[in-house]
Amino acid sequence: MDSVFVTGADKGLGLALAAKFLGSGYRVFAGSLGGRDGLSQLSARFPDRLSVIPQDVTSLNSVRRSAAEVARLTPSLDILINNAGISLKNAQALLPDLDLGDGHMEAMMQVNAFGPLRVTQQLLPLLEKGRRKRIITVTSEAGSIAGCCRDSWFGYSMSKAAANMQCQILQRWLGPKGYKVLAVQPGWMQTDMGGPTADIPPETSAAGIFAMATRDWPPGSPVYVEYTGKPMAW
Ligand SMILES: NC(=O)c1ccc[n+]([C@@H]2O[C@H](COP(=O)([O-])OP(=O)(O)OC[C@H]3O[C@@H](n4cnc5c(N)ncnc54)[C@H](OP(=O)(O)O)[C@@H]3O)[C@@H](O)[C@H]2O)c1
Repeated sequence: MDSVFVTGADKGLGLALAAKFLGSGYRVFAGSLGGRDGLSQLSARFPDRLSVIPQDVTSLNSVRRSAAEVARLTPSLDILINNAGISLKNAQALLPDLDLGDGHMEAMMQVNAFGPLRVTQQLLPLLEKGRRKRIITVTSEAGSIAGCCRDSWFGYSMSKAAANMQCQILQRWLGPKGYKVLAVQPGWMQTDMGGPTADIPPETSAAGIFAMATRDWPPGSPVYVEYTGKPMAW
């Protein structure tokens, strides 16, 4: 049975991804920051195929513990989806009003940019033994330098641009070893982060990301893509 680890799976896109993979027969490891019971309904429906794994992607110790727990439960992992992310509103101010001392910029870097690198590092030994070898990081159009349309949002945009670069570096290193690495723009989603007036429900994005995680990718295919599979400009 193929397996997937999804970070930040308590709500929003992460929860929709866990549901999509479970509905498609996968063994799912759902990273959970805790403090919510978002995954409880799925746990009740899929007790044999869903494992909820406590994980704070900002803590190397927590990420190490979560990887050890997954290794205790499975000899290999096919797909990793780095989904956990934060967008802190205080850090959306224009430069004169931006509080550079409140730690919000650093917090977004820790979750959105360094988080995926920690998780990928610790789960790589299991992915190495997996069949599919897919590493997908949910970034954002906000991380596109070529397509930049903002005059603020420094912390979020810079953290997502850094995550995009991380994916490109990983693809260059791991591609020749049979991996496919993707940086995915998930669309503007109706989640706590995206708000109720956003374009799409997270289930639509989850279906697109599932399709990309499970399809074949020829050598040289794009790394930075939309949830529809359309290439994004770096
Ligand atoms: N929503 C959009 O329109 C949109 C657009 C572009 C990109 N994205 C990206 O898509 C991804 C999913 O976003 P979403 O809309 O589903 O956001 P969301 O509803 O706010 O959910 C984010 C998830 O990440 C978890 N998380 C936050 N900090 C974490 C940490 N330190 N360790 C582990 N998990 C943590 C949250 O846990 P708690 O709930 O317990 O805090 C939550 O489960 C993010 O990477 C986001 O940047 C979203």
